[in-house]
Amino acid sequence: MASAIIPIAFLIFFSNFEPSSQFSLSVENPNEDVIVSSPKGTFTAGFSPVGQNAYCFGVWYSKPDRTLVWMANRDQPVNGKRSTLSLLKTGNLVLTDAGQSQVWSTNTLSLNPLELHLFDTGNLVLRELNNQSSVLWQSFDFPTDTLLPAQTLTRFTQLVSSRSESNFSSGFYRLFFDNDNVFRLLYEGPRVSSVYWPDPWLVSNNVGSGNGRTTYNSSRVAVLDSFGKFTSSDHFSFETVDYGLLLQRRLTLDHDGNVRVYSRIDGQNKWLISGQFRQQPCFIHGICGPNSICSYDHTSGRICSCLQGYSWIDEQDWSLGCKPSFQPSCDNKTTYQFLPLDEVDFYGYDYGSSFSNFTFKQCENLCLQLCDCMGFQYTFAADNGLFWCYPKTQLLNGHHSPGFSGTIFLRLPKSIENSRFQNNVNGLVCPKNSGAKQLDRSYVKGKENGSVKFMLWFASGLGVFEVLCILMVWFFLFRNSSHLGSGDKQGYVLAAATGFRKFSYSELKQATKGFTQEIGRGAGGIVYKGVLSDNRVAAIKRLHEFANQGESEFLAEVSIIGRLNHMNLIGMWGYCAEGKHRMLVYEYMENGTLAQNLSSNVLDWKKRYDIALGTARCLAYLHEECLEWILHCDIKPQNILLDSDYQPKVADFGLSKPLDRNSLNNSSFSRIRGTRGYMAPEWVFNLQITSKVDVYSYGIVVLEMVTGKSPTAGVQTTESGEVSHNERLATWVREKRRKASSAAGGEASWVEQIVDPTLGPDYDMNQMEILATVALECIEEEKDVRPTMSQVVERLQSHEHDSR
Ligand SMILES: *[C@@H]1O[C@H](CO)[C@@H](O)[C@H](O)[C@H]1NC(C)=O
Ligand SMILES: *[C@@H]1O[C@H](CO)[C@@H](O)[C@H](O)[C@H]1NC(C)=O
Ligand SMILES: *[C@@H]1O[C@H](CO)[C@@H](O)[C@H](O)[C@H]1NC(C)=O
Ligand SMILES: *[C@@H]1O[C@H](CO)[C@@H](O)[C@H](O)[C@H]1NC(C)=O
Ligand SMILES: *[C@@H]1O[C@H](CO)[C@@H](O)[C@H](O)[C@H]1NC(C)=O
Repeated sequence: MASAIIPIAFLIFFSNFEPSSQFSLSVENPNEDVIVSSPKGTFTAGFSPVGQNAYCFGVWYSKPDRTLVWMANRDQPVNGKRSTLSLLKTGNLVLTDAGQSQVWSTNTLSLNPLELHLFDTGNLVLRELNNQSSVLWQSFDFPTDTLLPAQTLTRFTQLVSSRSESNFSSGFYRLFFDNDNVFRLLYEGPRVSSVYWPDPWLVSNNVGSGNGRTTYNSSRVAVLDSFGKFTSSDHFSFETVDYGLLLQRRLTLDHDGNVRVYSRIDGQNKWLISGQFRQQPCFIHGICGPNSICSYDHTSGRICSCLQGYSWIDEQDWSLGCKPSFQPSCDNKTTYQFLPLDEVDFYGYDYGSSFSNFTFKQCENLCLQLCDCMGFQYTFAADNGLFWCYPKTQLLNGHHSPGFSGTIFLRLPKSIENSRFQNNVNGLVCPKNSGAKQLDRSYVKGKENGSVKFMLWFASGLGVFEVLCILMVWFFLFRNSSHLGSGDKQGYVLAAATGFRKFSYSELKQATKGFTQEIGRGAGGIVYKGVLSDNRVAAIKRLHEFANQGESEFLAEVSIIGRLNHMNLIGMWGYCAEGKHRMLVYEYMENGTLAQNLSSNVLDWKKRYDIALGTARCLAYLHEECLEWILHCDIKPQNILLDSDYQPKVADFGLSKPLDRNSLNNSSFSRIRGTRGYMAPEWVFNLQITSKVDVYSYGIVVLEMVTGKSPTAGVQTTESGEVSHNERLATWVREKRRKASSAAGGEASWVEQIVDPTLGPDYDMNQMEILATVALECIEEEKDVRPTMSQVVERLQSHEHDSR
């Protein structure tokens, strides 16, 4: 016992006599030992937990959820005991792990007294006390994965992604200025590196050609302004969808390799994505690791799957990719077969260059002769009428793109049975909680064995001191153990969850004045207006269908919805589950629903275009972001709300259900969902339900916005008779377009014929035509012909500024 106790006392004794520090912060008081920014207190600097008994010194948004924006020691978290940040008399700011080793320092030197100051911009600055303009060190010069407004990314700095959603260590992606002055995204995996943004096959040039970047401006600076515009010196620029509003903003290189700008109203709970650099997640390199294929699946969003004949290296972490299930060998005894994979491409790693005018047999032989050929791409190029052969020495950045004309022929030993091919095709799910593993760090019990022995001899030699020592030890041990297991971590979790909370029935009854002010009525329940105790105006939905649903099942669904966040998705503040009462509390939208606004003619063409685009962005987010694959299933103008700027917010998930990605059977969709007039034919004909049902409903809503005609009412027309069910509006529009294209008058006039007459002549013909064309594609009978929501976003986005 004594030998375990004494070193603790010994170390405490010495750390208290640490040489000449001006001040220090201790990891043991994470709530009191912090620096709060001035003057507004937006940011806090201090120790933040990043795992079990693992802390980082960092800067975070004070309220309400502790979003970390900078870390001193992301790759070397410190122990929750006796770690300190100290400003030494020498002028050096040092972070010490468990009272022993120094894990980080600013390497500064000064004889004048210094102070550490946190600005309201989030910049942590070490400066002289008497001369505040002399800055020795600042955190803005050492960004981690986040760039704040007013923080400049320079030739000396870069952003590095986190390893995963919950592991803040340096990950595989970098955003930086390359040697040719171009601003780039780089995947730097364990084995290979490659640039994936801007598209590597487009060359930078003087502006106007290629990817629009210039190599001529060597100042190498990039900055996000507080209005939401990002500019870099190579002429790349980017505006968020909420450009112009003064919001809290941050640009983060996320762990999945995409750069996203997040924004929120000061101190409100949720960060909303207001822009991202890349739209197609499968084009981000390394996203699925080697020997696997990234694909976008209609039902389940983005998935990674191992190639046939390969298996996962780590099922919890698909970024590591797959390994061959066979023994790769280079002898000439093994015989091989080639397995065709249609519409699949792997980026890079071609052997030699490429080989044109090759027959299939020649290509196959070429691959067989190469020891490390893992397969080949065989493509017919229509422009020169030749077949091209690309032997691949590595299978990286694979993706499946429907419509891609090439085929990969995978080289596998004949000994692999065909039956094995079937097993690996289904993908891993997104590693949503794969980072939930905790850092396993035990408390280090003094390694100074020599000093222990010395202390023991010393103590036993002097009886009086021994008694003193043991008393001291008991005192410290008692103090320490009272800290052990105390709920720092728990406090953090609670704080993170406060923005989304549980309301009691009586609280909501009071807020709605006894459920009197009804503002809407849907299939799932009735919506009331209410004022919460903190004076926020809320829309409170009282569900009637869920009376039989258990509380835990309800909570599971609610917590999934609570985790979603997007600019164009209605914010949810909380829920109530008490007895048989089930209620959802949402933010209240002043301008009501799209349905109300359409019938009252306040929407000009510009607003209509923005609403169509915003709604598409929200649905693309729900369908494709790697969060939860969610179908809405009831898109209609009544479920699209408008905020004070007439930006759309999609509401009402009363009918939607997150899809279980592993068992994609449709038993959970046994009931017909949706609303007459907006329902895809799949519901009627009892076909497979995929995200394309939302695409269909979306198409109908856009047609309604363009024409001003409701799909549920009859279309007033003298030419065509009444057509049955919801095909009326669609048929009418298709007919107009068909007639216009066959007539000699040219294309434009069909839009004039269908456009909502209340708009008058004042609209942008081009944008209205895009809207109508996209809408017609969305309502194709055959679901596979309809575009995905992200394709819709890209189409609409590319014409967003046409009229300006
Ligand atoms: C304060 O520091 C700055 C930067 O180091 C220096 O240029 C300036 O002369 C200093 N002012 C005084 C009064 O010492
Ligand atoms: C280079 O880029 C910087 C920052 O965007 C800009 O201020 C400067 O005028 C540019 N220089 C030239 C020569 O275009
Ligand atoms: C097998 O490979 C070796 C060297 O790799 C070569 O010398 C030999 O001729 C090959 N045998 C046949 C039958 O191709
Ligand atoms: C392609 O190869 C064939 C046979 O090897 C040859 O006759 C033909 O001229 C080649 N075509 C081109 C365009 O090189
Ligand atoms: C976080 O990632 C780093 C780097 O890959 C790894 O060494 C560390 O073990 C990870 N931590 C956890 C808790 O998984």
